Formats: sequence, structure tokens, C-alpha cells
Amino acid sequence: MNTSSDMARRRENRRAALRSTMTAVSQLLQGGALDRPRLESLQREMEALAARTDIFDASDFPPPADAVNNSNMFELWRSAADGPTLYASVAPVGLTTPPHNHGTWAVIAGVRGVEEHQCYQRDARGYPQATNRMNVGPGGSAAFLPDEIHSIRIQPAPAPLFSLHLYGLPFEHTERDFFDRESLKWIRYSARPNIRRIDPESNDA
Ligand SMILES: [Fe+2]
Repeated sequence: MNTSSDMARRRENRRAALRSTMTAVSQLLQGGALDRPRLESLQREMEALAARTDIFDASDFPPPADAVNNSNMFELWRSAADGPTLYASVAPVGLTTPPHNHGTWAVIAGVRGVEEHQCYQRDARGYPQATNRMNVGPGGSAAFLPDEIHSIRIQPAPAPLFSLHLYGLPFEHTERDFFDRESLKWIRYSARPNIRRIDPESNDA
């Protein structure tokens, strides 16, 4: 049974967990360049948060109106001065993205479902050439430096994908590029539809 008091309790527990995790994130980011070892430390933090399925109940994070073709992104936490920002993504099986970078560092951790990440390098013409591929599901994570390129395909699973996305900046403060396979051009973007804020008062601003 999922009563309003259950929901309120999850919300309180979620606030506490997010505050604790994002405090650890800002400590990890202090005093040094954002390199691969530091990203790996951030991955461990995100994996620990993603293991808290009790605070990420599917009923608190509904899919968008067109749940077959679209994903929803929930802003869970925005640090003071618009620094590291944490989102949750609810995405349908089969959803794909074109190759893209993030314009900032990114750490992704799985809660439910499996997200396939195809990584790329740019070839001499600047076109994305596939390199390694990995699946991120519950307990797993992936991390990308600002210029690193990936694409996503949501794998078949009984439930919609739910994953955590930690970025160095809020989405709208980044300048990302995606590769348009028809025009063979990289296209800059700084926005996406269906971003919703949740518990915004829990932020540390
Ligand atoms: Fe991405």
C-alpha cells in the first residue's frame, strides 16, 4: 500500500540522502582537477545513492504523457551557485539518443532497467567512430569527461529505466553537441524537454 504518509516519509528520506551525497560530491570536487580518478570516486558516491531504491519509488517519478516515445528528467538537486546538478531519468525501452557530449563532466548510475552506452572517438573528419560499449544497470555506473562522446539505447526490461545523472552544471548552463547522422554535422544544444524539478527546497542554495 502506498499512502500519502509513505510518500512523505520517502520524500524526507530522499532529502536526507541527497543532502548527504551532494555534500560528499562537493568535498570530492574540492582542490583538484576533474580527472578520471576523481570521476571514479564520484561514481562510487552515485552507485551508493542509486542503491537506495527505497527513496526512488517509481510512483514518485512518473513517465511523461507519451511514455512510449519520450523520457522524463527530474531535477533532484541543484548545488549553490548552479554547480553540480543531479537529475533522475525515466526512459522507455528502446529509446535511443544520437552521439553527444555533455559540455561538462557526467556520472550516470543505474537504479532500474539497463541503459546501453556506446562510446565514440572523433575520427580525422570529426565524425564519431564507435569504440567500447557497456551496459549500466542496477549497481553499475558510467562517467564521462566534458568532451567524451556516447549514445544511449534503453534495453528491454520489465520496468521503465530509472537512472541518476550527475552533471558538473545544470543542463541549461551546458553547451552540448550531438551528431546529426543525416546532415553529418555536430549540432549545439542547451535544453531538452520534460525536465521537472522535485523537492526544490531541499537544495543547498
Ligand atoms: Fe549523455
